[in-house]
Amino acid sequence: MLKAQGYVGSPQNRVDGRAKVTGEARYAAEFDAPDLAYGIVISSAIAKGRIASIDISSALAIPGVVQVFTHENRSGTAWLDRNYRDETAPPGSPFRPLYDDQVVYSGQPIALVVADEYEIAAHAASLVRIAYETDTHMTDLDIKRSEAYVPPKKRSGVKAPPSPRGDAEEAFTQAPVKVHAEYRIAIEHHNPMETHASTVIYEQDGTLTIHEKTQGPQNSQSYVSSVFGLSSDQVRVVSPFIGGAFGSGLRPQYQLFLAVMAALELKRSVRVVLTRDQMFTFGYRPQAIQTVSLGANPDGMLQSIMHDAIQTTSTFEDYQEVVVNWSNLLYHCDNVKLTYRLAQVDTATPIDMRAPGAATGVTAIETAMDELAYATGIDPVELRLRNYAEVDEANKRDFSSKELRACYQLGAERFGWAQRNPEPRSMRDGRELVGWGMATGVWEAIMQKTAARAVLSADGHLEVSCATADIGTGTYTILTQIAADIMGLPMERVTTRIGDSSLPKSPVEGGSWTAASAGTAVQIACQTVRESLFKYAREMDASPLANASLEHVSFADGRIVLTNDPETGVSFTDIMRARGVDKVEAEEKASPGMMTSMRYSGYSHSAVFAEVKVDEELGIIRVTRIVSAVAAGTILNPKTARSQIIGGIVFGIGMALEEESMLDHNLGRFMNHNLAEYHVPVNADIHDIDVIFVSEHDDKLNPMGIKGLGEIGIVGTAAAIGNAIFHATGKRIRDYPITIDKLL
Ligand code: MOS
Repeated sequence: MLKAQGYVGSPQNRVDGRAKVTGEARYAAEFDAPDLAYGIVISSAIAKGRIASIDISSALAIPGVVQVFTHENRSGTAWLDRNYRDETAPPGSPFRPLYDDQVVYSGQPIALVVADEYEIAAHAASLVRIAYETDTHMTDLDIKRSEAYVPPKKRSGVKAPPSPRGDAEEAFTQAPVKVHAEYRIAIEHHNPMETHASTVIYEQDGTLTIHEKTQGPQNSQSYVSSVFGLSSDQVRVVSPFIGGAFGSGLRPQYQLFLAVMAALELKRSVRVVLTRDQMFTFGYRPQAIQTVSLGANPDGMLQSIMHDAIQTTSTFEDYQEVVVNWSNLLYHCDNVKLTYRLAQVDTATPIDMRAPGAATGVTAIETAMDELAYATGIDPVELRLRNYAEVDEANKRDFSSKELRACYQLGAERFGWAQRNPEPRSMRDGRELVGWGMATGVWEAIMQKTAARAVLSADGHLEVSCATADIGTGTYTILTQIAADIMGLPMERVTTRIGDSSLPKSPVEGGSWTAASAGTAVQIACQTVRESLFKYAREMDASPLANASLEHVSFADGRIVLTNDPETGVSFTDIMRARGVDKVEAEEKASPGMMTSMRYSGYSHSAVFAEVKVDEELGIIRVTRIVSAVAAGTILNPKTARSQIIGGIVFGIGMALEEESMLDHNLGRFMNHNLAEYHVPVNADIHDIDVIFVSEHDDKLNPMGIKGLGEIGIVGTAAAIGNAIFHATGKRIRDYPITIDKLL
């Protein structure tokens, strides 16, 4: 049924590509309104304490300044009574902007200056005088780790570590070969190109249309209506285009609250855009300290796995990720102990950042596995094959599909792994040391309940819609491909509408679940339209299809025809004319339980191979080659899919070598809050990246066998690079990012 033109599975250009490169696509801060006012956020200069006084008189005296909102004059909102938690919120009580005089982290918003012009607001903001009373703050995980605790309330959707099995401590003591080490991951910030922005259009009837940078238009809509006591039909959130998000747009952020508050209070449209440095004043990938202990026999067979992780969270929410569970998911072992704890620091609450948890945990376990490969003298790929997990050991379920063996094999072949001399410092290219390393990647194949609508018009145009988002991942394109194939229409005759809270219900776009979830919903809705249309065709007077069955007809070029006699058929237009309708539509839901998925463990996997060249005198590391072999079920569009994986790998190179948000613990403040000092990989840092999609058939998770690709590209990449650096230099750096100072 999906093979009509075979769009699914073939490389297609992005349907939104032209709009994006020509500037036709508009982003949250680019929407205009008559009499639009501009808000500038003032951020706290201290990490903890209270605002002793805030003097707004000089700011208000500037012509063009409309209002300066602070905790002293803000309106009372429904927020004060309700502890509303958005759909991705961790346990705890979310940060409330301008709630009172308390400061709980550096960079916290403490005032909003609103003016007729942006420049006036910015100038006026510089005139607001704030006096603080400071309390002692603590942002140092090395000190707070002694107070680490098991989160008392689980975050929804985040699996707690499985119960211990066997006796991991004893097995470790007995094991002839041991690896025991501590691994560190720095705090990272997402840094998408588009900074967070909300343009709140205040309509004459008091309703709000909000152009918002978000991965979840309905999550933001529900936040605004709950917090401000509005009915859901008074608030519409639209977000058709997003300039990258990587998880930073999963939760409604404070600029949304402030812009809505100001618009309601002033009965005027308001735009609030965060500056680049303010992008460091909300969620981040938490810092992690992990301890991994691996015990093995001399033949490399694992006897004990212990993996403990401590991550930072804020003082007001227990943010949680799946960090340690991957260790036993990847490798068979009878004695396993996995533990996960949090430590509170005086920062904002962390937020999901690309492959949250897996990027962190897999970096540690895959570095430890490389150390075990050296300790046993076994090739790193061979070591992983010997310990290959055939079932999900935590619950003894079969995998819905798992072509990880093929990933290792095809990746190694493409990379030329067989030519590797395992001896560290044994390979050179001129003055540079050459290192080859590898690691495994894994991410859960998740599906979420999602609805979609399909409307086929008599003129042969199909519109499909869903409230999900496209953060640059290719959602518009894959949904268009799926719909076009089912209805037998060219992609040009299909319009996909997403990024609007008024569309059929969808969760936030995240977790790599959108292709499987929205894709399946669109598939089912289109199939329902297809069935209705076929029924109408059969019921037409003198229908040439009167005796045909759905299995024996094809939808092609706006017609339903007999598959074995394509001359016989009727056009969509004629069917609808005969029926007396001008469109056929359906809304359907996809849900995770629709197939047998609940009885299986579904994951995507990868094998990442990295080559580094290291200039030992200068400590400069170049990642000259990456081969990533990915098994992620059906690849809907190899072109956008490849871009997804390349993006994830570039992220992984950043994690391995560059990205680090540095806290000055004296001030409790991120010091490198700009793109000059927070380093992300630039074009010159990126060399050969080769993506292989390993064929993987999955008939358990969803009808099309989709697993998703948003996260898997980053997972394992940092470890592969760190392992390559060890191979090149003989130095094991367990503290990511691996910067020059650590190598010299
Ligand atoms: Mo992803 S970190 O769920 O946007």
